[in-house]
Amino acid sequence: MMKTSSDAPTNLTASPATPVMEQPMKRDDERTLAQRGEDAAQTPQRAQAAPMVRFLGVTKRYGALTVLDELDLDVAPNEKVAIIGPSGSGKSTLLRVLMTLDPLTSGMIEVDGEPLTHMRSGGKLVPASPRHLRAVRSKIGMVFQSFNLFPHMTALQNTIEAPIHSLGLARNEAVERARELLSLVGLADKCNHYPSQLSGGQQQRVAIARALAMRPKVMLFDEVTSALDPELCGEVLNVIRRLGEEHNLTMLMVTHQMGFAKDFADRVCFFSQGKIVEQGPPREFFSAPKHERTQQFLRAVREAL
Ligand SMILES: Nc1ncnc2c1ncn2[C@@H]1O[C@H](COP(=O)(O)OP(=O)(O)OP(=O)(O)O)[C@@H](O)[C@H]1O
Ligand SMILES: [Mg+2]
Repeated sequence: MMKTSSDAPTNLTASPATPVMEQPMKRDDERTLAQRGEDAAQTPQRAQAAPMVRFLGVTKRYGALTVLDELDLDVAPNEKVAIIGPSGSGKSTLLRVLMTLDPLTSGMIEVDGEPLTHMRSGGKLVPASPRHLRAVRSKIGMVFQSFNLFPHMTALQNTIEAPIHSLGLARNEAVERARELLSLVGLADKCNHYPSQLSGGQQQRVAIARALAMRPKVMLFDEVTSALDPELCGEVLNVIRRLGEEHNLTMLMVTHQMGFAKDFADRVCFFSQGKIVEQGPPREFFSAPKHERTQQFLRAVREAL
């Protein structure tokens, strides 16, 4: 299997040996996290159902720079969350640590009720083993801004690669699944095209089909339309919208497209300096932002239009 770049998509690319935390967890940290979990369960922001994704006190630092700062976030099953905020505020990092492409400095993430970065062993939380990590990670699919398709493989080959090699799916089943997904994203007639023979919007739709081929419960999108012209952008957003409507997927989407966030998301989270400064249903969030930093950001976005 080939690795195209550190930003490569889907479950197949993160090395099983990816460290999940830079330091082993101390007893105090464990207590704090357990307390945070209970606190989160009491807060009105908490999702009604048990969360599909839960960040508990997640901190990520690069050297002296704190990129995620003690972040708590619950995302309910099937919830669509748009993540917006200024450049450098930690949006991509949030998705990358959830995809385990980057280790946490401290804190914990749970996916579908299971700790992603840790596992229980002898009544204690210890950093997750590669096996545990692979199992939990298989519930998450990710699509990036740059399409990162394998250039020497057709759309179909790109889509069957991970199910065969990571899930052990039989080739004919993987092909059947890939054809279904490629037709779902409107590319039934492009299965045998190489990425260089596809438009940007089409390549991005293959990337979405490829991530879906792993049957994830959670899909992460990081500015998937920002490399596309407006028409192709609409094409990809329509596919995402349809996926959201027709499939039971929890979605976290980093986007600069406020219009899409407004009509697609159940909740908008505004990030600034590694924290969620404000969040709420899009209607309220966009019409009456409460925090000054949010108002300033939305003003700047409007002025740029
Ligand atoms: N591997 C890394 N090493 C050091 N610093 C990093 C690394 N990755 C990200 N950063 C820094 O972390 C901060 C947050 O980056 P991140 O990519 O999460 O921002 P973002 O909110 O996605 O921004 P944008 O809207 O521009 O994509 C930035 O200051 C960035 O320079
Ligand atoms: Mg980013």
